[in-house]
Amino acid sequence: SKVTEGQQVVVKWRGKPLFVRYRTAKEIADAKDVDVKTLRDPQTDAERVKPGKEQYLILVGVCTHLGCVPNFGTGDYGGWFCPCHGSAYDTSGRIRQGPAPENMAIPEYEFVSDKSLRIG
Ligand code: FES
Repeated sequence: SKVTEGQQVVVKWRGKPLFVRYRTAKEIADAKDVDVKTLRDPQTDAERVKPGKEQYLILVGVCTHLGCVPNFGTGDYGGWFCPCHGSAYDTSGRIRQGPAPENMAIPEYEFVSDKSLRIG
C-alpha cells in the first residue's frame, strides 16, 4: 500500500535492496512490446509478474554484472540504469544493453491481500 502508480519503494531484504514498482500503463505496454527472441536473457513480461497484478514489478535491485544498484528513470530502455559500467534494464527489469548478463532477479513473493506483499 505504500507504493503509488509510477513510483517505487525500496526495501532492504536479505541485505539487498528490493524494488517494488507500481508500473504505469505505458511501462507495462513498453515491457510487452518487445520481441523476446532479441533479448539476452529471454523472458516475457508475463513471466516476471503475477497474473492480474502486472502493475507490480518486484525486483532484487542489484545489477547482474557486478552488483551495483541501478537507478530508475535513466538509460535508453525506460527502466533502470546501472552507472557502474552502463547496463540498461527495461520496464520489466530485463537487461537490454551493457555488460550485465542476466535480467534483474525476481524474488519469491506473494500478495497476501490487495495492500500487502510477502517476500521470500
Ligand atoms: Fe552494473 Fe557493472 S555493476 S554494469
